[in-house]
Amino acid sequence: MKALILIGGFGTRLRPLTCSMPKPMLPIINRPFLEYQFRLLKKYGIRDVVLCVAYMPNDFRRHFGSGKKLGLNITYVHEKEPLGTGGAVKNAAKYINGPTFVLNGDILSDVNLKGMYDFHKSKKGLATIALARVKDPTMFGLVETDKKSKIERFIEKPSWDEVTCNTINAGFYIIEPNVLSFMPSGINYSIERGLFPTLLKEQLDIYGYVFRGYWLDIGTIDKYLQAHYDLINSGADFDMPGKMRQDNLWVGNKLKWGKNVDLNGRMVCGNNVNVGDFSQFIGNVCLGSNVRIGQGSVVSNSVILDNTVIGEGVRIEKSVIGKNCTIESSSSISANSAVGNKTVISRHSRF
Ligand code: GTP
Repeated sequence: MKALILIGGFGTRLRPLTCSMPKPMLPIINRPFLEYQFRLLKKYGIRDVVLCVAYMPNDFRRHFGSGKKLGLNITYVHEKEPLGTGGAVKNAAKYINGPTFVLNGDILSDVNLKGMYDFHKSKKGLATIALARVKDPTMFGLVETDKKSKIERFIEKPSWDEVTCNTINAGFYIIEPNVLSFMPSGINYSIERGLFPTLLKEQLDIYGYVFRGYWLDIGTIDKYLQAHYDLINSGADFDMPGKMRQDNLWVGNKLKWGKNVDLNGRMVCGNNVNVGDFSQFIGNVCLGSNVRIGQGSVVSNSVILDNTVIGEGVRIEKSVIGKNCTIESSSSISANSAVGNKTVISRHSRF
């Protein structure tokens, strides 16, 4: 079986990080996010992958190439202008010649793809949408099903008095080739707001596969950080990069660990990390490769990407600092900040 992954969006909610890097290439625990989706596909024996690219397509090509090193066979289908989630699928029509998985390229999940495929086969619908259960459905598009799991209604971002269920579109689909005839060519078109409502209107059967596993859309700064916290805390279930140095610290090669460093939480370090004397790490912290933390700095619940240098006496709280940044000494970065790649923040700055 084949999988299409939709990775052509601009990722505007993750700006400024996505100004110089497409969202699916942003590292999560020091690996490009897309690798997590590749791992999921490989776990279920899916090796033929079609990447639907539009924004910064060469970043993917350069990094993953033909996919051979990852044990995958990757084909790239390029949109000159982003065509939307549905337009991207239509643009890749020639690769859809049987039931095909379609994945949003920004969902971290352990959805059981075999369970979903067996469900799809047993229901014999034109499409199956994976449905995740969430506590607050008002932020999402609700999907209502009947007792036989047939989808009856889509409700976009409902208010609380419109909430009738807690199942939302999880951004993983199986489609049959015949759905392509309901999709217009060459125009921007949405799979969620265009294709699926059209199939319902035509009284065609689409089904919802509710799963209980992990599900997170990494598309905002808050959720991007949450993905790190969840993986850092998932312990044995997750193949953490590097070596476990103590039960709350995973490190790459050539770590320099200063005197009197206080680690009060869990931390992951890439290669060649230098942690200054008297620095302090609180909660969940992830440092990329070649990161330097100056003496006496305090980093809590934050992600610092590769090649960034943090000066002395800096405070960083619940934030993401991009690649190749310099945060000069005595600066302070408050919660929910995102600093774009190659930014220089001068001494004593406050954010
Ligand atoms: P925001 O701008 O922050 O909403 O992010 P986004 O552009 O990624 O949009 P969204 O989160 O709705 O997209 C869901 C998934 O579909 C992501 O993996 C996107 O990369 C992908 N996607 C969205 N639009 C397109 C498109 O026009 N073409 C392709 N190939 N993929 C798209």
